[in-house]
Amino acid sequence: MPGSGRPWLVLGGTGLLGARLVRQLRTQGQVVETVARQNADHQLDLTDGAAVQRLLTDTRPSVVINCAAMVSLAACEAEPDRAQALHSDLVRVLTEVLSPDQTRLVHISTDHIYAGEGAAAHTESSQIQPYNIYAKTKLSGESFALGYSNVLIFRTNFTSAVKHNEALPFGAWVLKTAREQGEITGFADAYCSLLDVETAAKAILEAAVMPITGLYNLGASDVFSKLKFIQELLKQAEVAAEVKTGTVAGLVPPRVRAGGMDSRKLQAHLPWSLPNLNSVCAQLVAEETRHAI
Ligand SMILES: NC(=O)c1ccc[n+]([C@@H]2O[C@H](COP(=O)([O-])OP(=O)(O)OC[C@H]3O[C@@H](n4cnc5c(N)ncnc54)[C@H](OP(=O)(O)O)[C@@H]3O)[C@@H](O)[C@H]2O)c1
Repeated sequence: MPGSGRPWLVLGGTGLLGARLVRQLRTQGQVVETVARQNADHQLDLTDGAAVQRLLTDTRPSVVINCAAMVSLAACEAEPDRAQALHSDLVRVLTEVLSPDQTRLVHISTDHIYAGEGAAAHTESSQIQPYNIYAKTKLSGESFALGYSNVLIFRTNFTSAVKHNEALPFGAWVLKTAREQGEITGFADAYCSLLDVETAAKAILEAAVMPITGLYNLGASDVFSKLKFIQELLKQAEVAAEVKTGTVAGLVPPRVRAGGMDSRKLQAHLPWSLPNLNSVCAQLVAEETRHAI
C-alpha cells in the first residue's frame, strides 16, 4: 500500500500522462519507478508477459499505474494484435500476477468508447460503442481491470500545450498550427470533456490513495466540441487565426463523436472542482508560458 516503502510503478511513465504523474509523485517524495521501452528505470516491452511477470515479482510495487498505450488510432489499425497485447493482454497479466491486498492497480482508460452523437455528458453506465481497434482493445483491457478488486479505472481525455518527447499533443498542435498557418480546422461534431494533463494527473493521484474502487470518468466539468476548444484556447492565448469548421464524418478509422463525460461520481470525492473549458484553456496557456520562460 502507499507509504509501505514499496515503489509506485508507472507503466508508460515516460508518456504524456505518465511523466506528469511521475513528476507529481516525486515532488511528494514518493518512491517511483518508470517502465517503458526506452528512457525508463525498467526498459522492457510490456507486451512480453513473462517480462512483466518478472518485473512485478522483482519490484513488489505498492501501486501500479498503467498508462502504457498505443494512442495513435492509425497504428492500432495497422497492428491490431499489438494493440490487443498492450491494451488488453497486459492488463490480464497484471490482474493475474498482482495481489489486491498488496497492490493497488490504477488503470487509465479512455472516453473514446462512448456511443452516440452530440454534447451528451455520459455517465460511467452510459451506452458504449467502440468505433475502432484502439477503442475495442482499450475496452477489453477495462474488462480485465474490473475483475481486480483493488482497482481504480479512469475513463479520461487530456492534453498539453507543449511538445512532449517528439509528439505534439492536441493543445500544442492547435497553437502551433494556428500561429504558423494562420488558419486551423476544428471538428464541430466531435464532443469531449478534455482536461489539461496536469489536472488529470493531480486528480488521479489524489483518488489513488482514497478508499474507493471501480470505474470513474475524469474530465472537465462541461462538454464542448473540439471546434469550441480551439476557439477558446486561441482566444486565451491571443492567437489571431481563422478557425474553420470541420467534421469527423468519413474519417478513417472512424472515431468517437460524443466523448463528453459526466465526472460527478469522481467529483464527489475531490476537495476541489474539476475545471470547465475556460479554466482548462487558462491552465494550458499558463503551461505554455511557463515552458517558454
Ligand atoms: N493522449 C490522449 O489524448 C489520451 C486520451 C484519452 C486517454 N488516454 C489514455 O491515457 C493513457 C496515457 O496516454 P498518453 O497520451 O500519456 O500516451 P503516450 O504519451 O503515447 O505514452 C505512452 C507510454 O507507453 C509506453 N509504451 C508504449 N508501448 C509500450 C510497450 N510496448 N512497452 C512498454 N511501454 C510502452 C511509451 O514509452 P515507449 O514508447 O518508450 O515504450 C510511453 O511511456 C493511455 O492509457 C491512453 O490510452 C490518452
